[in-house]
Amino acid sequence: MKALILAGGFGTRLRPLTLALPKPIVPIFERPFLYYQIDLLRQVPEIDEVILSLNYQPDRIEHRIGNGAEIGLPIRYRVEPEPLGTGGAIKFASRGVEDSVLVFNGDVLTETNLKAVVRHHHECSARATIVLTPVLNPTAYGLVESDERGNVRRFLEKPSLDQITCNTINAGIYILEPETFDRIPDDRPSSIERDYFPSLVSRGERFVSYLEQGYWLDIGSPNSYIKAHRDLMSQRCSGGPFDGKAPDFVYRETGSTISPGAEVQGPCFLGTGCLIESGARIGPESVIGPRCIIRTDAVIERGILWGDTVVEARATVTDALIGESCKILSDATVSSGAIIGHGTILSEHSHV
Ligand code: GDD
Ligand code: MG
Repeated sequence: MKALILAGGFGTRLRPLTLALPKPIVPIFERPFLYYQIDLLRQVPEIDEVILSLNYQPDRIEHRIGNGAEIGLPIRYRVEPEPLGTGGAIKFASRGVEDSVLVFNGDVLTETNLKAVVRHHHECSARATIVLTPVLNPTAYGLVESDERGNVRRFLEKPSLDQITCNTINAGIYILEPETFDRIPDDRPSSIERDYFPSLVSRGERFVSYLEQGYWLDIGSPNSYIKAHRDLMSQRCSGGPFDGKAPDFVYRETGSTISPGAEVQGPCFLGTGCLIESGARIGPESVIGPRCIIRTDAVIERGILWGDTVVEARATVTDALIGESCKILSDATVSSGAIIGHGTILSEHSHV
């Protein structure tokens, strides 16, 4: 069985971070995000290959992930000549595949038991199975109504407030039978959510849902990308390096240095080769990327820093996201949900 990860979106909500790095490989604790999904896919013994459906910055993704040897599942790449939308991308990337395909939106962090989803699909002899998750506000998602036997009755992408009839949404995980792809047009954009799923419902195909009550998060916005780190650190979500550790665990990658007189409070992550100088303070829920330097008396509170950034003396970073290779000069303050793009230099005493 093949898994197909939709990883071709532009990641617009995560700009400017996704200008330098496409969303599927944004780091979470120094691992590309896709690795967390492939970890889950590895739990399904039938899956023997992952097809990555790409469009935006495919070379960067291919360069980082390679043939999959590092993560333990062979990877094949299908790069669209132009963005085909979620429907077109699935059809394009699954050409030649005859068996059921497990499709995964490339920005979903979850603990879903995929083995159970595959079993459910086969037990129901379904043509399509969709995983649902409950949320408080479905407007940013695909609303899915199903009957008491789990048959999908309605799919409505991005409903307005007055169209909300239930709290279950499309979790972005499907098992699909390729014969049903005849309803997706070839080589032109189409949407799995707006075209294909509603067409399955209107044609009365065997289209069933699987309700997942466990952890689920779309990491595609800055707040949820930050939340993903916090949830893994606090073990609200399993699957990260904090699993089974004490609540105030300080995860230290190889070569991270905490100088005498520095204060580091867990849970937090110190990346490969980073340096925390004397007098600096790292508060709980912070992530210091590889090779970052945090100078004397600088303070990081719930900050997420990608690699190679220097935070100079007395600068503070609070509740902010800092891209790669930035320089936060002395006495600068970055706070309140600020997002700083790749290579930015913030001058002394500046405030963002
Ligand atoms: N290859 C390819 N080509 N991939 C694409 C394209 C494309 O043209 N457009 C989007 N994708 C990928 C994105 O990279 C992402 O992994 C996935 O398809 C979903 O796109 P998003 O842009 O993240 O959609 P969304 O979050 O607004 O909504 C989708 O996900 C929700 C769950 O997180 C929908 O599937 C909703 O129904 C669902 O509830
Ligand atoms: Mg998304």
